[in-house]
Amino acid sequence: MSQGPQQATGEDKKQQDALRASGEIPNHIAIIMDGNGRWAKRRGMPRIAGHNEGVESVRDTVEACGQLGVKYLTLYAFSTENWKRPQEEVSLLMRLLLRALKDETDRLHTNNVRIRTIGQTARLPLEVQRELFDDIARTKDNTGLTLILALSYSGRWDLTEAIKRIAADAKAGTIVPEDITEDQVASYLSTDAVPDPDLMIRTSGEFRISNFLLWQLAYSEIYITPRLWPSFRRDELYEAIRSYQKRERRFGMVSEQLRSQSNEQGKGYFDRLIKSVTGP
Ligand code: FPP
Repeated sequence: MSQGPQQATGEDKKQQDALRASGEIPNHIAIIMDGNGRWAKRRGMPRIAGHNEGVESVRDTVEACGQLGVKYLTLYAFSTENWKRPQEEVSLLMRLLLRALKDETDRLHTNNVRIRTIGQTARLPLEVQRELFDDIARTKDNTGLTLILALSYSGRWDLTEAIKRIAADAKAGTIVPEDITEDQVASYLSTDAVPDPDLMIRTSGEFRISNFLLWQLAYSEIYITPRLWPSFRRDELYEAIRSYQKRERRFGMVSEQLRSQSNEQGKGYFDRLIKSVTGP
């Protein structure tokens, strides 16, 4: 039986309260978890040690996002291109993923987290597919954070699959090419019904999108930290959110338009408030 997320305590709770008070908590955060190999190399350890410690970062980030009220967290856990890594690293990563899913799902479920995946999951080892299938089914009715694991995922793959299905539907006559809208295109992507990320975080200081959510990141705020993923913990997540709260998201408009828009929204609010007191 799932409950709400286990709440933060002490100094951490204070920090979370301060974040909520200082501005909006992003609804959807997407993360490119990079730098596991470098983290291990700097310590003279095998690359898998970096991936191992990276699971700790995943655990802490998921927990903090759930507590803060973030609704969606998408983690780029394995890209289509990652299949080209040495076979040994790929199979160690798959084993690590399986272990993490087996170890963590109980706690995620108790914390009301819903698990989802995007990507070519049919390419994953059968054992991983089965575990994912069970975990997704088990957590499907949870209403807290939705944790989206991008596995064997790439943005171009996502768009190509969408284009194939759009073309097939156009051929079958169920959609009219001239009438296709952006919303319709979005509905053919693997992220259908998931709002676009508000904030995209990338670790290890690289300024690249690396074939992540190419369509969905169109208006996301980007935060890049030099910290390597295995060293990423909630303090850096809070820093990213603080940075996000200071940004002005214009969506192609000018600042004045945004201000008048929020004045209009404010006016609507006061109109509704007056009506609720005086009656229609
Ligand atoms: C990038 O570091 C990281 C990955 C390709 C894998 C990320 C996987 C995990 C953190 C563990 C499992 C995930 C979950 C969701 C439990 P890199 O190897 O590219 O590092 P480098 O650029 O320094 O070589």
